[in-house]
Amino acid sequence: MAESKRSTGRLSTFRDSVKKLTERLSEGDLDPVRKNDEPMREVEKLRIQIQTMEDELRQLHQSRYQLEQAQKQNEKLTSTLQEAKAQIEALREEVDKLTAPPSTYAIFSSMNPDATANVYVSGRKMKVNVHPSIKTKELRKGQEVVLNEAFNVIESRGFDGQGEVVRLKDLLEGKRALVTLHFDEEKVADLGEPLLAERLSVGDHLLYDARSGYVIEKLPKSEAEELVLEEVPDVSYEHIGGLSKELEQVKDAVELPFLHPELFAEHKLSAPKGVLLYGPPGCGKTLIAKAVANSIAKKLEHLTGKEVRSFFLHVKGPELLNKYVGESERQVREVFKKAKERAADGNPVIVFFDEMDALFRTRGSGISSDIESTIVPQFLSEIDGVERLRNVIVIGASNRQDLIDPAVLRAGRLDVKIKISRPDMLAAREIFSKYVTPDLPFAAEELERHGGDRRALVDRMVGLTVEAMYAMSE
Ligand SMILES: Nc1ncnc2c1ncn2[C@@H]1O[C@H](COP(=O)(O)OP(=O)(O)OP(=O)(O)O)[C@@H](O)[C@H]1O
Ligand SMILES: [Mg+2]
Repeated sequence: MAESKRSTGRLSTFRDSVKKLTERLSEGDLDPVRKNDEPMREVEKLRIQIQTMEDELRQLHQSRYQLEQAQKQNEKLTSTLQEAKAQIEALREEVDKLTAPPSTYAIFSSMNPDATANVYVSGRKMKVNVHPSIKTKELRKGQEVVLNEAFNVIESRGFDGQGEVVRLKDLLEGKRALVTLHFDEEKVADLGEPLLAERLSVGDHLLYDARSGYVIEKLPKSEAEELVLEEVPDVSYEHIGGLSKELEQVKDAVELPFLHPELFAEHKLSAPKGVLLYGPPGCGKTLIAKAVANSIAKKLEHLTGKEVRSFFLHVKGPELLNKYVGESERQVREVFKKAKERAADGNPVIVFFDEMDALFRTRGSGISSDIESTIVPQFLSEIDGVERLRNVIVIGASNRQDLIDPAVLRAGRLDVKIKISRPDMLAAREIFSKYVTPDLPFAAEELERHGGDRRALVDRMVGLTVEAMYAMSE
């Protein structure tokens, strides 16, 4: 730049002196050819000089333009280079990823004081290091982790969703469990963290990870087990109207052996194993069985002063019938097996067979298919086996006790038979009073007629209804 400015300045001074010379020449001398030979030559020289300088200038301009052009190109090249570099880096990352060795999955067990972790790698217990980015406090027993090729924990995962199904046989000290695998093989397993907070009961199906020996999940019950309801029903004696005599009998037969086994021992009596409630439909058989189960739990709690879990296995006769040979028998066996498991820890268990006549028909009666010829003996052998076990009582209910195989009802099996008959007038009144209560919304008109006394209204309504029901004439 400075160069070109200087040249331009020089050029203009040259131009000026040439101009002056030319003026002088044209003004003074008449014989320029002769007199001014010398200056003319100088002028010519100068002119040539100007010419070269102008050429130089042009060249200068040209190179400046070229320089700018080159600079631009340079910039473009730099950005292209940068782009290429980024692309190469991305590719390298991809190559790194693809050529990385495979990672191993392991099951986390516990942390050691030296900040290493104990994990199970396909059945082998290993002590490994943990990557600093892993929050060791958040690792949970039984959880899956990922190990790199140096067997360092580099990632924490969830809990594996697959494994063997096992049954819980017992809970042991130290967060362990006794579980039953296939073919009644038994094993002691550690409880995974998700199960520590879970309420587990004997017979629960659990997900077992054979590689680590942890049980990590409680599974839903299988179909066969859903047949039997296990919660203690929410029905108490107060819900039952009438039937006080029958209830007394049921209590003697069912509650006493649970609450006062010493009395039976004292009199050298064996406690009854079962009770059959029979009678016309809809008169409270199922209701009584539920109330008994509920009451036993409450009374035992009161007696022992600690929480008692009583179990009520509700077997609905027809639901147990299965078209496959041997399947119904297997289910009867399952029911008793379950009852025994539950009773083993001293919990009272009531096995309630509703609609008993559907299952245990008199053999050879020809009334139904031949299923009873095998299911009755199965039941008999099970109930005879109950002898070895305390705390299990069988309650049967039926409205056709005449169809039940006599062997089922023989002494030593369901030997206490209690008839639940239709209510008489008094009982009917009581039953009504359980349902027609003063807090129901009555018609204002009716209320007024009784001076707003709801109790009186209820009594009169029930009285009238019962009288009408039991009237001998139309
Ligand atoms: N004594 C009663 N006190 C109060 N409610 C009763 C009584 N008897 C029957 N009920 C009512 O009738 C319903 C049917 O009774 P429940 O199921 O006990 O009859 P069931 O004797 O088992 O009949 P089924 O032989 O048909 O099974 C009960 O849910 C209850 O609401
Ligand atoms: Mg019933």
